[in-house]
Amino acid sequence: MLRFISAGESHGECIIAVLEGLPAGLDIDTEFINQELARRQLGYGRGARMQIEKDTVKILSGIKGKKTIASPMALMIKNKDFSINELAQITEPRPGHADLSGALKYGFSDIRCVLERASARETAARVGAGAVCKLFLREFDIDVKSRVLSVGGEKTQEKIKAKIDNARKSNDTLGGIFEVQADGVPVGLGSYVQYDARLDARLAFALMSIPAVKGVEFGIGFAAAQRIGSEVHDEIFYSQKKGFYRKTNNAGGLEGGMSNGEAVIARCAMKPIATLGKPLSSVDIKTKKQVRASVQRSDIAAVEAAGVIGEAMVSLVLAEAFLERFGHDQMGMIKKNYKKNT
Ligand SMILES: Cc1cc2nc3c(=O)[nH]c(=O)nc-3n(C[C@H](O)[C@H](O)[C@H](O)COP(=O)(O)O)c2cc1C
Repeated sequence: MLRFISAGESHGECIIAVLEGLPAGLDIDTEFINQELARRQLGYGRGARMQIEKDTVKILSGIKGKKTIASPMALMIKNKDFSINELAQITEPRPGHADLSGALKYGFSDIRCVLERASARETAARVGAGAVCKLFLREFDIDVKSRVLSVGGEKTQEKIKAKIDNARKSNDTLGGIFEVQADGVPVGLGSYVQYDARLDARLAFALMSIPAVKGVEFGIGFAAAQRIGSEVHDEIFYSQKKGFYRKTNNAGGLEGGMSNGEAVIARCAMKPIATLGKPLSSVDIKTKKQVRASVQRSDIAAVEAAGVIGEAMVSLVLAEAFLERFGHDQMGMIKKNYKKNT
């Protein structure tokens, strides 16, 4: 089993990712992990925090030299803004955030105790761990990428920029849709034999766990519900050179809870950022008086970054399913097994 957990607060000392279950003998390229961390911080519409933090990883365990030794990997990303104990208390919960439910659940009188962990800063850990999984997948020519399909309903770069500029001017925010695509995924990752083995379900869980993602679809997804079967299902062909193949990929590379050899394609809908410059109505958790929600340093839109996080989550799931299918102790053994069985 490949296991990943994270620790760390937005303005705490650091963000930590622990990744356990990787085989021994995987080459770890720290520079690649740093490049992925930098990609998470990019995108038009990001807030001031992205100028403060220039994330870099320190690998604390799990490698000797530059190779994994099968023990848990701990990745540390330091926070430049380590001010959690100096920051002012917050009592005005922001609609659309974990603020109110989190404070009620854990009995906090200071909402900072919630937002420090609920913040999307945590996703730096996911991108760090996901980058390690990408390095593993690349050994087998599996490539995971993402692209922004729309922001605030706009599709072209120019219109997206203008929409973000307008939202910034009017102190508002935007969401959008991003797509994650994995090429080179072999047939048979995941399984139909049990509900929690299904690759589509595991990918949906992983993608849905990204803060602000409210919808996930594979292939043509929701559009399939409006079409007749003959216009949806991808017909099967065979050639000596390609083996079994399809001419269409409406299924997004997933049938019966397994990869089918075509590109795995997921699309995610991200809601608008919940911290507004012109804050919405809220209620002070101490005084119970009607107030305006608190305003924190914030992004206007972060769809491109969410796509990078989507790549990380897809890479984590694919790496785990790959290790289940082709073995998990040593890179050499896995490579032999992969060659023999694909
Ligand atoms: C890359 C990324 C950056 C985000 N940046 C912000 C931000 O600057 N301000 C904010 O209020 N929400 C931001 N969010 C969204 C919140 O983290 C998220 O909406 C909130 O935690 C509530 O969770 P939920 O939307 O899943 O219910 C961001 C999300 C992602 C994926």
